[in-house]
Amino acid sequence: MCKIFNREVFLMASELDKIKNPVGKELKEFEKHFKNSMKSSVPLLDKITYYIVQKKGKQVRPILVFLCAKLCGEINDSTNVAASLIELSHTASLVHDDVVDDAYERRGFFSINALWKNKIAVLVGDFLLTKGLQIALETKNYRHLETVSTAVQQMSEGELLQMEKARKLDIDESIYFEIIRQKTASLIAAACSAGASSTTDNEEWISKMRQFGEKVGIAFQIKDDLFDYGDFDIGKPRGIDIKEKKMTLPLIYSLNKSEKVLRNKIINYIKTDSKNEEKVKEVISFVKSMGGLEYAEKIMIKYQNEAIEILKTFPESEARNSLENLVFFFTSRKN
Ligand code: IPE
Ligand code: IPE
Ligand code: MG
Ligand code: MG
Repeated sequence: MCKIFNREVFLMASELDKIKNPVGKELKEFEKHFKNSMKSSVPLLDKITYYIVQKKGKQVRPILVFLCAKLCGEINDSTNVAASLIELSHTASLVHDDVVDDAYERRGFFSINALWKNKIAVLVGDFLLTKGLQIALETKNYRHLETVSTAVQQMSEGELLQMEKARKLDIDESIYFEIIRQKTASLIAAACSAGASSTTDNEEWISKMRQFGEKVGIAFQIKDDLFDYGDFDIGKPRGIDIKEKKMTLPLIYSLNKSEKVLRNKIINYIKTDSKNEEKVKEVISFVKSMGGLEYAEKIMIKYQNEAIEILKTFPESEARNSLENLVFFFTSRKN
């Protein structure tokens, strides 16, 4: 599987470059730290972490850490620790998530479980997670340690709640929001509050940054769930949520809106035949015909706007401007 040049992704990269501008130097420095933090004396582990570093993602969480830090004060060593801790936890969660979801593609390449199988992927995820926690301990950044370990706990709870609902198929909108708040928004909120707490003691600002992160995190996951219904290459599998019986906002809304016979037919497809390509296509068409995608888009924009409102309560600055653009990037991105 080789990466094909994609113009849209190229345009997106330059958009993100502009957003990174106010913290560009710090992000470069962070990348070095991040790379070094994954080193191990076990050759197999070193080979795998090298593979992970080569295929780095968008790094939106470290960008958030640095921009939120800059919004509230002056970036320092503690900001760097927060960024590494958050990105290591995120990377670990992706390695584990691909095992849980049986997904063989990540960031446009084979996932760790696809190349090295589940047993190794689970252990690599554990290694990355504990590396992050150790960095906080070694540098005595106990507040970051608390913020991130709470988020990681919530991520596991969110993924498990999602699994429970995939078995019972009894999910409603409020449970969907609870799941995405836990599995995705918690770490994004932690990135924003840890960034802020690295540069200010103003608890009101730190708390506002956390709320901001939670809103953008929810919008971010709704966008991710919309990708599953899309036609574009996103560097990871599409249609997989339905295959894994994960009911996300577009489908929950569509089922609630449809009459009983149709609803039961679609639920039955998911219950008994979710791996069947034809049935997956039918579920996708059903969601499209019921306006499920437009509805999810509308809710995503509501969260986007609420996040912008929180930002507006901070004094105007270059960092605030970039954060605003990052929020719009989250809801308009192509992968
Ligand atoms: C993917 O996160 C997991 C979700 C929470 C949807 P990203 O889209 O930030 O993944 P990378 O790091 O850029 O690959
Ligand atoms: C988010 O959910 C996963 C994590 C928070 C780790 P998904 O399962 O939808 O994420 P992707 O689509 O695999 O990146
Ligand atoms: Mg997944
Ligand atoms: Mg997804």
